[in-house]
Formats: sequence, structure tokens, C-alpha cells
Amino acid sequence: MIDYALIGTGRIGTSLELDKLREKPASHAGAARQNKEVRLAAGADPDAEKLTAFGRQWRLPADCLFTDPAVMLDRVRPGIVSIAADTDAHIPLLKLALDRKIPVVILEKPVAATLAEGENTLPLVEAAEKAGTIRVIVNHERRFSADYNHALGLIRSQCFGRLLTMNGRLYMGKTRAIEKVLWHDATHMVDIIRYLAGEITVERCFGSVEPGGGNWFAIGRAGESSLVMEVSPGRDHLHFELDLSFERGRLRIGNGIFEEGESRPSPYYEHYRSLMPVSRRFKKTGYFSGMMAHAVELYHDRALPCRSSFADGLAAIRVIDGMIHASARP
Ligand SMILES: NC(=O)c1ccc[n+]([C@@H]2O[C@H](COP(=O)([O-])OP(=O)(O)OC[C@H]3O[C@@H](n4cnc5c(N)ncnc54)[C@H](O)[C@@H]3O)[C@@H](O)[C@H]2O)c1
Repeated sequence: MIDYALIGTGRIGTSLELDKLREKPASHAGAARQNKEVRLAAGADPDAEKLTAFGRQWRLPADCLFTDPAVMLDRVRPGIVSIAADTDAHIPLLKLALDRKIPVVILEKPVAATLAEGENTLPLVEAAEKAGTIRVIVNHERRFSADYNHALGLIRSQCFGRLLTMNGRLYMGKTRAIEKVLWHDATHMVDIIRYLAGEITVERCFGSVEPGGGNWFAIGRAGESSLVMEVSPGRDHLHFELDLSFERGRLRIGNGIFEEGESRPSPYYEHYRSLMPVSRRFKKTGYFSGMMAHAVELYHDRALPCRSSFADGLAAIRVIDGMIHASARP
């Protein structure tokens, strides 16, 4: 059994597990409790109320709850630790875990509060990983999700031909500044685009990232395909979608979205082909359980390639930072 500890007992750390509608597990603690090789041993948070609620939720005794993560790491010596604290605490806490040689660290996104902080930390992480003592996984959870891995299979097998265009759409709130949405939410989009299609090159950004800036677009390339990304305000609903257009098919994939279409002789027009729906569904994507299973794999074999490395997480914020700098400011 691998002892597991959680730093940051807030929403993604633990309380999203209480959302009745979400696919479970939906949190770090939930994923740890569900994995048969892992023992949810302890949690740390300076917020006593959230810490107590975490203890109650998972029936952990008071001596498993810590207000100071350093004390917890020293007492519990976990094999796997998640850092699910506020973004500005990610790098200080990661350095703490590196210092204590915790074998596997799961780090929330964005990996750092600024690009410079992330860049400065990369050599530390790489040196620790090279020494074989530590592995760092970034929780860009779509990399562990069955539906996105199906998309990766379509791209690699070329069963719909070449991927020609990717359109990403992200709407997160009516008035949130685009800069904030880019930094905190589009990191997921940029990361999964890199995972699916390859390195992103941004050619132009249109629109302002400041509050009240209206619709925002980036155009460029992802691997061999064209890329258009939109991040816009004004919607009262959450929308995260990638639209992948292939030579002979299409896939729309996102939060609550999975629609595949393949090119067949058209039922609407003679001598033409049309996209016709393929009936495939993913009832369960296993995004969080897949992430924890990968942490267990890396615990047992530190030499395995990491499916969501610190370098990947950093690459995502490098792209985001570039987009923000390329955007108009008043
Ligand atoms: N992967 C995802 O889909 C996803 C979803 C939500 C949030 N996140 C990320 O997770 C992080 C936390 O977000 P949240 O929504 O759960 O926030 P939250 O405010 O609900 O929880 C954060 C918790 O961290 C605690 N904390 C702050 N500093 C700490 C420290 N030094 N040591 C220990 N605990 C500390 C806070 O007291 C709080 O309880 C953010 O970086 C966010 O970007 C990722």
C-alpha cells in the first residue's frame, strides 16, 4: 500500500467529490480513496475549516490532519502527494516536496503563478527526476481521459485521414477577464491540443485580454494542423470544446460533448459525400482515476515516461504567456 497525502483541501483537492453530477472520482482525495494500491493517509491546509471538512468527508482522525504541509510530509513520508493548493503556492510546495524527496508529486495546473517562476523551477525538477528519486505529474487531466485518448488514436491511426484543422472554444463566465481565463482555464485547452496534435505556434491574436475586451481569438498551428482558438466572455454557461476536422471525418469533443462524424455517400445530395454520425459514447472517461493510476505506475517504476510532465505543464503556460503578450492592451 502506498501512503498518499493531499496538500490543499479545497475544491479540486476534495470537495468537488460532493458534486452529485460529476463523474467520480472528481478530486485528488476521491481518486486516492478509489485506487486499491493507495491509502489516503493525511491532508494539510492552513484553513482549519476546510481541513476539518476534509477529515469529516473521508473519516480521517485528527492526527492525520495538518495545518502545516512541511510537518505532514515529515511525519507521514507519503509515497504520493498531491499539491492542490492555490496557484501561487504551487512552486513553493513543489520545492518542499522535492526537498523531502517525495517519490511522486501530482501538481495542479497552472504549474506556476508566473512563467518566470516555472522556467526557474524546471532545472530543479529535471535534476531530481534524473537522479531517479522523484517524478512530477501535472494534473492536466484530459491526458488521462478515455475520450481524449480515443481522439489521439484517431489522429495517430489516420482512420479519418489527416487532421487538417482544430478549433478550440472556451467560454468561462460572462465578465471574467480573458487574461484570467487564459491563465487558469485555457491552460487545459493548450495542453490537450499539444497532447493531441503537437507543438503550438501562435501566428496572430485578435482582441484584448483585459476586462470588457470582447471576443478573443488566436490563430496558428498545432503540429501539422491549422489552429483557431476562441476565448470569449458574455456566455452564462461553461463551454470547453475542441472541434477536430479530418480529411474524412470530424470529432467534436469537450465538457459534455462527444460527437463523431465520418464521411459517407451523402443521403442529401447525389454525387457528394456528407459527414454522418458515428454512434460512440463515453459514459465514463476515468480522467481522475487514470491520473492516479499513472501516479502509482510511476511510483513503482520511476524510469517510465510521464504522460503529463512538468515540462509539458510549463510548455502550456509558455504558450499562454506568449498569447497574452501578443494580445492588444489599451
Ligand atoms: N485540474 C483541474 O481541473 C482544476 C480544477 C480546479 C482547480 N484547479 C487548480 O487547483 C488549485 C486549487 O484550486 P481550487 O479551486 O481547489 O481552490 P480552493 O480555494 O477551493 O482550494 C485551495 C486550497 O488550498 C489551500 N492552501 C492555500 N495555500 C496553501 C498552502 N501553502 N499549503 C496548503 N494549502 C494551501 C487553501 O486554504 C484552500 O483550501 C488551483 O491552482 C487551480 O488552478 C485545477
